Amino acid sequence: MIDLSWVIDPIYIATIFFFIVGLQRMSHPLTARSGIVWAGAAMVIATLVTFLTPNLTNVALIAIGIVIGGGFGYIAAKRVAMTGMPQMVALFNGMGGGAAAGISAVELLGITNTATTSSLAVIGGLIGAVSFAGSIIAFLKLQGWMRPRPITFPGQKIVNMAVFALAVVSGILVVMQPSWVPLAVALYLPLFFVLSLGFGLLMTLPIGGADMPVVISMYNAFTGLAVALDGFSFATPNYAMVVAGIIVGAAGSLLTLNMARAMNRSITNVFFGAFGATEETGVEIKGSMKAIEADDVAVMLAYADKVIIAPGYGMAVAQAQQKVKELTDLLESKNIPVKFAIHPVAGRMPGHMNVLLAEAGVSYDHLFDRDEINPEFPATDVVLVIGANDTVNPAAHRQGSPLFGMPILDVEQAKNVIVLKRGQGKGFAGIENDLFYRDNTRMLYGDAQETVGRLVQALKKL
Ligand code: TAP
Repeated sequence: MIDLSWVIDPIYIATIFFFIVGLQRMSHPLTARSGIVWAGAAMVIATLVTFLTPNLTNVALIAIGIVIGGGFGYIAAKRVAMTGMPQMVALFNGMGGGAAAGISAVELLGITNTATTSSLAVIGGLIGAVSFAGSIIAFLKLQGWMRPRPITFPGQKIVNMAVFALAVVSGILVVMQPSWVPLAVALYLPLFFVLSLGFGLLMTLPIGGADMPVVISMYNAFTGLAVALDGFSFATPNYAMVVAGIIVGAAGSLLTLNMARAMNRSITNVFFGAFGATEETGVEIKGSMKAIEADDVAVMLAYADKVIIAPGYGMAVAQAQQKVKELTDLLESKNIPVKFAIHPVAGRMPGHMNVLLAEAGVSYDHLFDRDEINPEFPATDVVLVIGANDTVNPAAHRQGSPLFGMPILDVEQAKNVIVLKRGQGKGFAGIENDLFYRDNTRMLYGDAQETVGRLVQALKKL
């Protein structure tokens, strides 16, 4: 058979270029879709070219794994609702971490390891296993198969630190014992992985649902790092794994920091703060919630000089984006300018609102981020808050509130605020919202798709 292994490294380097172009294109909504195609194509090419590795064994097993994993991924990604995307990302990321830990395990069972390659495999294995176990907990919490609130117990931090320390010690023992010594294989290696998985599990349990986006992207960075370390742990380094892992690690870290900033959470606070475990006490919200009918809101809108729409998770649940676009077109046809206020963590994943609104055909020049739009609220006649809650909760300005310090959309400064929601449901953080009780706020109750539809009909009649 012809030896084509010499093409592997040059093709890996080409795929690295593809990954970088893909990532760069993902940084803008208009080019993001093609960015995914570039990066996906690079991954397919890198996977295929790996089959040219000399003396590759278990080819049939690898092919079966790819067909099962790829088939599951394809079907799951096709079926998932937009609102279920964060847990799917968590699950897929967990699989990446698990695969990295698996590669480390296989490497550590090999007999050609040096102290350096074993150490890299141990560190990669630890990080990969933590990412796997943590991502699975994140998936269960977001899917609602586990209580989303922080799970805490006395002495938790000490227990977590002890498990981590034991995982590190067992990892050191794995490196110090040549792997063909039966004791290392039979005892230290399984112990190392059980402790690493246990640590991932334990460190994620006390984190509440509201902090999950930060956690998932952090584990995403972990997975990238684990893959990069694994790439180095082979006798001949695998450059595609090293570079792809580093890119994922860097991108995941930046996303983590950006999201943490958007929620005003420090990384330490996310991991050790048990956010949402306790509610704010001793605060009594004055005023009452005042309902309004769609016909009255339509009149307000018809006489407004300026309207801002602040969408949130409820718009996604109701799949109201098409109706919202219809309403926007109708208002603009009456010469009433409409802007969208987009909070960076509105919804359940980064860019959630942008994706939904783009899908409905709302052009990007209508979308404004928090810093751009906040100064405009005081001069705005009507703000429609469509299924948003935490991201517009003025409690974020009050010391003592669990949301304190989270930069929000200051919709309460508008002349009139109309909140579209189904009932008395709290936001993701489970905190009462002062906004709903303000004098300038009215509640339009119902499923957002239906209430926005009623607004459209009422406006058409005017
Ligand atoms: P949330 O605080 O989640 O509030 C959503 C509101 O929508 C609820 O109060 C709910 O009230 C209403 N709602 C639900 N279904 C509805 C429907 N069919 N029609 C109308 N209203 C409906 O929303 P938000 O302001 O977008 O804030 C997002 C929160 O999620 C933040 O706390 C954020 O930190 C967190 N989070 C964000 C992300 C990312 S990266 N975006 C990921 C995970 C978590 P009713 O039940 O009364 O209708």
